[in-house]
Amino acid sequence: MHLGVLVLAAGEGTRMRSNLPKVLHRLAGKPLLGHVLDTARSINPDEITIVYGHGGDQVPSSLAAADLAWVEQRERLGTGHAVMQALPSLQKVEQVLILYGDVPLISHSTLSGLLSCLVKSDLALLTVDLPDPTGYGRIVRDGKDRITRIVEQKDASLGEQEITEINTGIMAVNRSRLDGWLARLDNDNAQKEYYLTDIIAMAVEDGIHIQAIHPDSEEEVMGVNDRKQLAYLERFYQRQCADVLMRNGASLADPARIDVRGRLTTGKDVFLDCNVIVEGKVSLADGVSIGPNVLLKNCSIGEGTEVFANSVVEDAAIGRACRIGPFARVRPESQIADHVHLGNFVEIKKSQVAEGSKINHLSYIGDSSIGKQVNIGAGTITCNYDGANKYRTIIGDRAFIGSDTQLVAPVSVGEGATIGAGSTITRDAPPEKLTLSRSKQVNIEGWQRPVKKPKQ
Ligand code: UD1
Ligand code: CA
Repeated sequence: MHLGVLVLAAGEGTRMRSNLPKVLHRLAGKPLLGHVLDTARSINPDEITIVYGHGGDQVPSSLAAADLAWVEQRERLGTGHAVMQALPSLQKVEQVLILYGDVPLISHSTLSGLLSCLVKSDLALLTVDLPDPTGYGRIVRDGKDRITRIVEQKDASLGEQEITEINTGIMAVNRSRLDGWLARLDNDNAQKEYYLTDIIAMAVEDGIHIQAIHPDSEEEVMGVNDRKQLAYLERFYQRQCADVLMRNGASLADPARIDVRGRLTTGKDVFLDCNVIVEGKVSLADGVSIGPNVLLKNCSIGEGTEVFANSVVEDAAIGRACRIGPFARVRPESQIADHVHLGNFVEIKKSQVAEGSKINHLSYIGDSSIGKQVNIGAGTITCNYDGANKYRTIIGDRAFIGSDTQLVAPVSVGEGATIGAGSTITRDAPPEKLTLSRSKQVNIEGWQRPVKKPKQ
């Protein structure tokens, strides 16, 4: 069966009070619609079509991908109208799965459950019982518990408003039936809209026994209409991530204070302190410990490494048994080998630091290659930029760089070299020698410290 997923995403999202189209607001760092599309992809459909409208081309241009087709709904005349707009582009589709772009947490298992209902019926609905069903379309059932129709809140009688089983909006339909039903829709209702939900009664008229299933959790089918709901789903999502991490053997100082905006994989006995933020793809090997308020973005951290409080690691690879921070910043394109120490207020950019080297205090190392067992003293700066171009600094194995040294690149320091503290190194320093550039110290005889004039 040729399966097409149709995502409705033309809604305006007025209650977000935003210039950004609602479906581009982010949950866990990813647009709401991005979540829906990723889950849709996980069921391997033959095609995915998105109906967009509000916000113009912003939505298709932000999420463009080869496997997506976009249909613009110029006038927002209801969910039925939205589906009608997409029909011409669903030529080959035999089964349609309808999703909402603002219902981000729908799960793979719920969707496959819904699709498997199409074996027995031409129409399957995802419904849920809500203690407070206000605002939703209600599922009307007959005396034999068979679904007969859906009535929207605004069209419902007082009796129907008592019904707590609601329409999530997510449904699966056999294409052969869909076109005919849509052709019969009208907008003769309280909202003067073409309701997709009206096809339910048509299906029943055609003798179809409608299937309904429920999601595993209510949050899966919760829509985002305002920022409060977005924040609620964000917390729900994060709690789920925290639970997965703990199941996989990580300890969290507080499962409510971690944010995963991407994918985090952890080995055994990983510890994450409060307020760790993860972005992109991050992997932490066995025994890694991350201190409080640490930002990790697209990085891998090797076994047993400790990252202390308030450090930032971005687009970098860090080896095993390292000590990073507190207050260290490892910037993109840096490779830090095993047993390296990077201390407080140390910034590393586009540099390689080989095994066992220590850069413990207040240093900037950019565009550099640092050998093994190198010791870089406090306040060392690689002057890598002349205002126009960037140059490399090369430091050989076992070199010792005295504190407060400036290395004016391009420059290299040989293996085993020692640089005297306070030097400005503008030419290559030979291996195994002491190099220093420092004005001679003078001690002034007979000098006296000025004193204040006595008051008149
Ligand atoms: C719809 C359902 C209602 C259900 C509720 C679940 C109908 C008539 N009603 O109501 O039974 O309980 O969803 O949240 O289907 N959209 C478009 N184009 C349109 C209208 C809507 O793309 O012209 C999209 C929206 O962006 C949204 C989804 O369809 O993603 C639902 O629209 P919304 O206005 O929220 O529907 P409700 O009236 O709340
Ligand atoms: Ca809604």
